[in-house]
Amino acid sequence: MEKSSNIQVISPNVKYTEDYIYADYEYEETLVTKKDNELLVKPYQTSLCIRTARKVGRLGIMLVGWGGNNGSTFTAAVLANRHQLSWQTKNGKMDPNWYGSITQASTVRLGIDESGKDVYVGMSELLPMVHPDDLVIDGWDISPLNLAESMVRAKVIDYDLQQKLKKEMSAMKPRPAIYDPDFIAANQADRATNLIRGSRYEQYLQVRADIKDCRDRNKLDSVIVLWTANTERLCEVRAGVHDTSDNLERALRNNDTEISPSTIFAMAAVDEGCCYINGSPQNTLVSGVVERAERAGVFVAGDDFKSGQTKLKSVLVDFLVTAGLKPVSIVSYNHLGNNDGKNLSAPKQFRSKEITKSNVVDDMVESNNILYKPGEKPDHVVVIKYVPYVGDSKRAMDEYTSEILLHGTNTLAVHNTCEDSLLATPLILDLALLTELFSRVQLRRDDTEEWQSLHAVLSLVSYLLKAPLVAEGAPVVNALGKQRAAIENMMRACLALRPIHNMQLEHKVY
Ligand code: NAI
Repeated sequence: MEKSSNIQVISPNVKYTEDYIYADYEYEETLVTKKDNELLVKPYQTSLCIRTARKVGRLGIMLVGWGGNNGSTFTAAVLANRHQLSWQTKNGKMDPNWYGSITQASTVRLGIDESGKDVYVGMSELLPMVHPDDLVIDGWDISPLNLAESMVRAKVIDYDLQQKLKKEMSAMKPRPAIYDPDFIAANQADRATNLIRGSRYEQYLQVRADIKDCRDRNKLDSVIVLWTANTERLCEVRAGVHDTSDNLERALRNNDTEISPSTIFAMAAVDEGCCYINGSPQNTLVSGVVERAERAGVFVAGDDFKSGQTKLKSVLVDFLVTAGLKPVSIVSYNHLGNNDGKNLSAPKQFRSKEITKSNVVDDMVESNNILYKPGEKPDHVVVIKYVPYVGDSKRAMDEYTSEILLHGTNTLAVHNTCEDSLLATPLILDLALLTELFSRVQLRRDDTEEWQSLHAVLSLVSYLLKAPLVAEGAPVVNALGKQRAAIENMMRACLALRPIHNMQLEHKVY
């Protein structure tokens, strides 16, 4: 299966075969070394061959927390788009779309036409990618409700569309899941009746069997497992338990109580050869899981979807700092009334979220040593309150105070109201589609080397994640523009196209 693309690159550096797109690519960087008080700057190039497999397989996405607001909204969105269902609201007839998805609803600049005007194409047109209509959806939930019932409980989808989806979604039932009351808030206990019993190792084996069952039944080429279940408390990372793949396995077999349900799901996914994505803030992806993913040659990515408030923060602070203004205080207040909010009203689960929400400006602050002394940071406070009445319609209020010229003050106040799950759903789609795409990309320096996949920690999808996990020692990038450029330029590199430079010299010189 290959999604037809009408883009053909005509270049001596690109070769199309039946199976691959081969690109010869000069990767350029600049080495800066410090000598006494001088910076020595040396541009250099690395020649790379990049190949992208053209055959797009049949992809399954298995959601942990399938019956939640995100899980049911994601399922509804895929089905509404697949069947092109229209529905009535008080504002008239509505048609489905994928707004909020960068792969489906955003464009990238390909180049210029003969008159020097920019030419844009949909991001998903650049390289062969899975089409959302072809996704197979499956998953687990500790709540036994079928997907139609979950959709009604979530109160996100318009009533008329719910009616059109009900029949198909009522046949979808989450598989029993792993419940450990020590890891999610006590207020979730009453929905936890759809459970895998037994020791942690037995639970792990069951999850593996579920993945295998889903893969075989649907004849899938690959499965991505994505956590969109409740936020867990952080696990206490211990040497000898979480640090290596072997220790983790031993601890799992010994039923160690600090191995969280999400880590069990991640281990099972990786061991079944599936990529695992963590859409919540907890520290599922401990070193032992990463090592396992490296060994298995699959990706892990996390943590925590970057959907609303944090996405804006990673734009706004980048803008302020690159404008030479100095943010000194950032105060973020949220209230929401969905089940996520209920779970986060417990202190330990809130703590997981507070951490992922708090580190998101570090790279921008550290990039400017004119504004900030080493170690200096803005005051940054995050508050989350549970207010049942507002349901999924989350309110986020942020105040950014910056120092401006000659110690003047600039205060920006932002009020954002939005259905949370309608922001998170397109991110789930993009995470799945981009992860699948990058799993078909391989690189080598020359033809004496073996082809290599990208690093098992897939930081290329950082754009979609609040606290991006990176390979050990690699810098974390939170600035949204840079994160998006990384995706776009990597996709361009697969076609031997240079990064977008935005210089437009055609229009700036005689
Ligand atoms: P939700 O509470 O509606 O859904 C979570 C589902 O997970 C529930 O159906 C629950 O029964 C299930 N669950 C809990 N523990 C489980 C386990 N061990 N195994 C399987 N299922 C389990 O929450 P929602 O709104 O769908 O959010 C899901 C997650 O995504 C939360 O952790 C949230 O913090 C995170 N997230 C959401 C964002 C958004 O909606 N905009 C943004 C960033 C992160």
